[in-house]
Amino acid sequence: MKKFIKITFITIGVAILVVLLLAGGLILYTSVAPSPDPHSYAEYWPDRLTLQEADEISVDLVSQMTFEEKLGQMTGDMSFLDIASGLTSVLVFEKIPIVASGENERLNIPPFTFTDGPRGVVVTEATAFPVAMARGATWDRDLEFRVGDAIGKEARAAGANYFGGVCINLLRHPAWGRAQETFGEDPWHLGKMGVSLINGVQQHNVMACAKHYALNSIEESRFKVDVTVDERALREVYLPHFKMAVDADVASIMSAYNKVRGEFAGHNRYLLTDILRNEWNFNGFVTSDWLFGLRDGAKGINAGMDVEMPLQEHYTPEELHPALESGEISIDQIDEMVRRVVRTKLLYITNSDPQEYADEILASEEHQQLALEVAEKSMVLLKNEDDFLPLSARGIGSLAVIGELADSDHTGDRGSSGTHPPHIITMLEGLQEYSNGSFEVIYNDGSDIESAKQTAERADAVVYVVGYKSEDEGEYITSGDPEVAPENQWGEGGDRPDLFLKPHDRDLLIESLPVNQNSVVTLIGGSAIMTNNWDQLTPSILMAWYPGMMGGRALANIIFGDVNPSGKLPLTIPEEEDHLPFFQADIDSIYYGYYHGYTLLDKENIEPAYPFGFGLSYTNFEYSNLQLDKKQVEENDTLWVSVDVTNTGDMTGEETVQLYIGFENSTIERPVKLLRGFEKERLNPRQSKTITLPIVVEDLAWYNPENRAWEVEKMQYSVLIGGSSQPEKLLRSDFGIR
Ligand code: BGC
Repeated sequence: MKKFIKITFITIGVAILVVLLLAGGLILYTSVAPSPDPHSYAEYWPDRLTLQEADEISVDLVSQMTFEEKLGQMTGDMSFLDIASGLTSVLVFEKIPIVASGENERLNIPPFTFTDGPRGVVVTEATAFPVAMARGATWDRDLEFRVGDAIGKEARAAGANYFGGVCINLLRHPAWGRAQETFGEDPWHLGKMGVSLINGVQQHNVMACAKHYALNSIEESRFKVDVTVDERALREVYLPHFKMAVDADVASIMSAYNKVRGEFAGHNRYLLTDILRNEWNFNGFVTSDWLFGLRDGAKGINAGMDVEMPLQEHYTPEELHPALESGEISIDQIDEMVRRVVRTKLLYITNSDPQEYADEILASEEHQQLALEVAEKSMVLLKNEDDFLPLSARGIGSLAVIGELADSDHTGDRGSSGTHPPHIITMLEGLQEYSNGSFEVIYNDGSDIESAKQTAERADAVVYVVGYKSEDEGEYITSGDPEVAPENQWGEGGDRPDLFLKPHDRDLLIESLPVNQNSVVTLIGGSAIMTNNWDQLTPSILMAWYPGMMGGRALANIIFGDVNPSGKLPLTIPEEEDHLPFFQADIDSIYYGYYHGYTLLDKENIEPAYPFGFGLSYTNFEYSNLQLDKKQVEENDTLWVSVDVTNTGDMTGEETVQLYIGFENSTIERPVKLLRGFEKERLNPRQSKTITLPIVVEDLAWYNPENRAWEVEKMQYSVLIGGSSQPEKLLRSDFGIR
């Protein structure tokens, strides 16, 4: 059996770089041509082409192409030398090159120019927003659209027209190392947030790429794991968010590295053609995940994998000519793929452009303010006993800040989503800036627990900053030497071994929290962190995620009450890890069942430590007067649900109203409830608002594998509405489908 080497683009590059630096990488660097501007090609084509017009032009262009030119459209333009010189550029000159592919000057076909994400644009300098998981916790679609808008503008300013940063893999288990790149565990919420990002980005004629299609949610095994899934789980749990992206006209899809039912996702005809093209009518183009996402040219072509990224390894004349000659693939298939790529590029460069994109847009003041707003709206207050928070700046003479993470980069991993902001406001800096001399800030990195205790003891209040960093979780970057045991290899990121804090942080909290009762524990990380063992020792816990370049300021504003926290968990934090599905980082094959997250705990009747959708505020919200506009509906109807939400406290706050549908009357196996609507609203003290949400009956369908069709059950459904998925706090009504 072929042994696949776990190695990433970056790792290969690092190895090659060392050699090339010795052999003259600097010379290579100076010879790298700047990326061509795809939009400069607009002048060759009529304005605002429709899809059909772009398609007709593409058919004609394909007919004029040589075989090599066709392959030029179907492959990334990098060579291994480009990767090396690109890395010289990254590591020595801190310049991140844009990857341009598929330019054809003879036929006036623009390239696509790729940049990564999702926490911002991955170029030399850009705004680092909070990670996608944090943005999922805002539950704010308009805000995510504005993030997409800023990313779209920054991409254009950097010369990119293809944004590979819409990660919408479902968080099946929070130990997944790349959890930070996605929006959460629920397909509905994930799809809606992903679509907001796509819409924001694409309005700037930047093609968004939704990834990694599909079932990619174990990092350390991503190049080899074979995910088995039954048809209902695939359709109802793992694909709906990709379907939403396609319905929103996403320009591109990136396939995953892993296998699905025995076949690599990049060779998987069922996923790439039967479902994506034939059922969902996807018009854009598919690219492979980089380097290991395509392993066999003919298999890729037969599956419908349009573009091999980032370089030509398998879509080569040497590999494809024999396959053409033997009839394994046909030239019509190739023509079809080229046509899809070309028409999408033409569509995007000829669309009307909302503005000019000057360099100053990158990490502009306005975008930094947006990053701050997102961080403030994403932090989740998990515990606040006796209204301990907010602290009053006037009430304290000294504040201890404890933990190594308070004084370090907290923006997320260093894999492909690594965004480079011009500066980062650390948690410590944010608190110091807030104090501005009005109280003393005493910092202790927490490495010596005795000394941390002494610091905690002498301050009026203590902010702990604990959790994870790029070494611990994220895209897995490893030396990948097959001869060396995994535990002895250099590497960083990857999946988490468990969902607890790391042992030192746990000891630090357990030993030092008791010496000062006035404490807030701030958690840094890309997904669920279990709080058992120490949560009883502190009055307040705040989940800050990886809060982006302005994180420290957001933290201070929340802790001191200038901002009322409004984040809600986009995932379930269990009482015990055993309550979640089986997860293993190094694994060859795994079965993904129908239940995970809140659907699993609901089914097993297990209470989580913190439920999906949960988050406290400094004020309280009351729900009343749940009304449905109809009690009986037909299969194609939409039903409207309204509820009154009142801010009963003294502080303005934002509340996310969540709508779940209950399926207890079903005669088939179904979840207890599913999220089918949400809306974030700002309410002044004592203000009441009526929130109205639609229920589209079609969205309640289940996938019947026998009929290979979505079917709506004719029965009574429950409507559950409230501020989290916690059953006892939800208002309930019902309606029937005839
Ligand atoms: C990652 C993708 C990323 C690509 C290019 C791959 O290793 O899995 O998410 O877009 O690299 O950076």
